[in-house]
Amino acid sequence: MSPKVEITVDGKHLDIPCVVGSEGEIGVDISQLRAETGAITLDPGYGNTGACQSNITFIDGDKGILRYRGYDIAELAAQSTFIETAYLLIYGHLPSRAELSDFSDQLTENQMLHESMRNHFEGFPPTAHPMAILSAMINAASSYHPNLISGKNRRRRFPYHAARLISQVRTIAAFSHRKAHGLPFIYPRSNLKYTANFLHMLFSHPGEPCELKPEIVRALDIIFILHADHEQNCSTSTVRMVASSEANLFASAASGVCALWGPLHGGANQAVLNMLKEIRRDGDDGTKFLDQVKNKAAGKRLMGFGHRVYKNFDPRATIIKQQCDKVLAQLHKSDPLLDIAKKLEEIALADDFFVSRQLYPNVDFYSGIILRAIGIPEDMFTVMFAIGRMPGWIAHYKEVMDQEKPKISRPRQIYTGPTQRAYTPITER
Ligand code: ACO
Repeated sequence: MSPKVEITVDGKHLDIPCVVGSEGEIGVDISQLRAETGAITLDPGYGNTGACQSNITFIDGDKGILRYRGYDIAELAAQSTFIETAYLLIYGHLPSRAELSDFSDQLTENQMLHESMRNHFEGFPPTAHPMAILSAMINAASSYHPNLISGKNRRRRFPYHAARLISQVRTIAAFSHRKAHGLPFIYPRSNLKYTANFLHMLFSHPGEPCELKPEIVRALDIIFILHADHEQNCSTSTVRMVASSEANLFASAASGVCALWGPLHGGANQAVLNMLKEIRRDGDDGTKFLDQVKNKAAGKRLMGFGHRVYKNFDPRATIIKQQCDKVLAQLHKSDPLLDIAKKLEEIALADDFFVSRQLYPNVDFYSGIILRAIGIPEDMFTVMFAIGRMPGWIAHYKEVMDQEKPKISRPRQIYTGPTQRAYTPITER
């Protein structure tokens, strides 16, 4: 039964209905609050605000649960592929053999960029961050599909454009790396599956295909699965907000890339590695660094720790840590940064500062070490996250587009600036 909520603002009384989700989550529906009482809610950072109802991903942060369309992340990571998971997220069910085959064919058909897009890559300076290139190029790619811009075609052409975007984000990402390093572009090969094809475009040389160890390809595929969706995080909310204006799919996804770039979100994986390197350079085993984090004066955070939603453990971090050990063993590599990371984790998890604030390793804590072991350059780490997150953004875009009563996202504010005052001409100031 729905709980009863009442509110009285300045003597104006309102009975507030609640929405109960399929996992029992309660949402207090304040959509009539302003109309009935004149007041609004204030929730900086949206920690208590549900912006939508969604049937894509469920997270229980206290129990460390993450499910895509009802399927547990650990099961998907163990048994699914990134492309099957992408289909699941976007279309809501696990594909049949025929559906998966059609979807894979669509990805292959759309993997090439329009040849004149090469000119856009040429325009970036060598110092350009691949995330800047990625967001700009995703937007640029929309220019080659004018039917994307038309609102009328959004629904009809969606499957085609969704496949195009998933496929092309990988090609754009690989090309942005090649461009940044002054290397010739390597075109995708139709006989390679999604993740292997990406590694091929990243690491092969003309006439010299790179080695594609199945275990390494699989590890990267799992990383993509783990990043594929995470309900209303900063970048996904951004995508939904842009989509609510009926902007096209590519423009909405490009906005997601921009939001993901920041070090408090997808940029954390690169920030973790920088932190570990700094600790190593200082000859510290992590103790000194953690003291600086705790005294807060140095303005340092333990990157890769803490999460807005997970307050017990991040199930993705558990899987990534196992993958990290596996990949290093497979490549017969050891990494002193991994030793520092493990030491940091050990100290932090026994320290009241972190325990009392419910700070645990998140998905980014170990992902950078795997990516580094595979040979992915650090400035590409967040790009890897973006490739993984693309199906989630697309699924959320579709959910916004398919709403029965679409509504543009437009929050309100409590204004705290000056009240009305008269303009003074500059001669009198
Ligand atoms: N290191 C040290 N202290 C931290 C950390 C951290 N990583 N994260 C939070 N805290 C502390 C804060 O200083 C604050 O302490 P206080 O109560 O004494 O003021 C308390 O924990 C609560 O922190 P908030 O910033 O309010 O927590 P919020 O939920 O807003 O932030 C976030 C979540 C941004 C992820 C934060 O934990 C953080 O900055 N982590 C490091 C960056 C990171 O790893 N981001 C990746 C997140 S996962 C993802 O996006 C894929």
